[in-house]
Amino acid sequence: MHIKSLSLHSFRNYQSATLSLTPGLNIFVGDNAQGKTNLLEAIYVLSLSKSYRTTRETELINHGAQRTVITAQVAKMATLDLAVMVSELEKKRLLVNQKSTTANSFVGCLNTVLFIPDSLQLVKGSPGDRRRFLDVQICQIDPVYRNNLLKYQRVVRQRNSLLKGAFENRSQLSQLPAWDNQLVSLGTKIMLRRQDVVETLQHYSKSAHERISDEREDLHLIYQPFFETEENIALGRKYTSAHVEDTLRQKLQELKMEEVRRGYTLVGPQRDDLVFRINDADLKKYGSQGQQRTAVLAYILAELELMCQETGEYPVVLLDDVMSELDRNRQMLLLSILNQKAQTIVTTTNLDSFTPETKQRASIFRIEQGRILQ
Ligand SMILES: Nc1ncnc2c1ncn2[C@@H]1O[C@H](COP(=O)(O)OP(=O)(O)O)[C@@H](O)[C@H]1O
Ligand SMILES: [Mg+2]
Repeated sequence: MHIKSLSLHSFRNYQSATLSLTPGLNIFVGDNAQGKTNLLEAIYVLSLSKSYRTTRETELINHGAQRTVITAQVAKMATLDLAVMVSELEKKRLLVNQKSTTANSFVGCLNTVLFIPDSLQLVKGSPGDRRRFLDVQICQIDPVYRNNLLKYQRVVRQRNSLLKGAFENRSQLSQLPAWDNQLVSLGTKIMLRRQDVVETLQHYSKSAHERISDEREDLHLIYQPFFETEENIALGRKYTSAHVEDTLRQKLQELKMEEVRRGYTLVGPQRDDLVFRINDADLKKYGSQGQQRTAVLAYILAELELMCQETGEYPVVLLDDVMSELDRNRQMLLLSILNQKAQTIVTTTNLDSFTPETKQRASIFRIEQGRILQ
């Protein structure tokens, strides 16, 4: 799929901008603070219905305006018109072909993979960062998962407030079994889907890694359910639904008093993780920075393949200022792999980081103070 055209009204530092994109490579060049990241953020909002940079959505509205409207025309099997409106006065609206719709049917219309300098921290970052990476991809390809995840997050919030209250007043614990049942049933579904997706990502990231690493190294990506220690997980092990469900129940029993003492939920997929190994060594502990970066790049390319396998189409790739973070070889490899596959939207402060051949085939735009010039 690709974005044919895009328009922003009162979005961040844009008053009004409309542009057509090529299905191939689009490069946006500009100095700092001109609106490059804002532009990618707008596309991300059209994809995920919300920003990755803020939870306060009115921040997206241009200072001085009361609402922002962003729209895109997306070419896939059929052409889709997407729109997001965020207003200070009304609830956010999501539209597909001019009709209001729910976030659950909006997400998935435009699929994206976002790669920002922070993404390079994926291996070294927190388990929460890795779960977010995973969830953002699965939510785009599976509305049922997205729904379960949102429900699950509500269950954990409710359960946490119950546990906090129970510290003072034990009688509140009588309400716990109802929440436990939901935690187990939703938690099991989430964990099994994650397990499946990580297996697919493992397959693709291994072959992407072979392609982009100079050394002959084996990348392993392994799902680590919350109940397993890092030492115990192994490539190829599959947990059945019954096993996950039983373990959730058993851990809830075991850790109940500890949960009351701490006042929050200790059991469930909100404590899952992903482990990267190279030739069986943990990349987080033992990998060089170069190895970690190569692994992240392989992971990003695997996300592309995952989405294509699940939806039949490659997502749009958003690369914010990452070229300067990658060495020349990796830049060329990345762009040449993407070239055959996905619409790519790149921002940069400096066009010199691209080869003449790359610039030749790209649509190049200049961004200055919230204005886009071609
Ligand atoms: N709601 C807003 N209204 C007006 N300007 C904004 C808003 N939010 C951010 N900006 C401005 O956008 C600019 C940053 O844009 P950004 O896209 O992050 O820059 P870069 O080109 O470096 O990626 C800053 O000047 C910031 O003040
Ligand atoms: Mg930026």
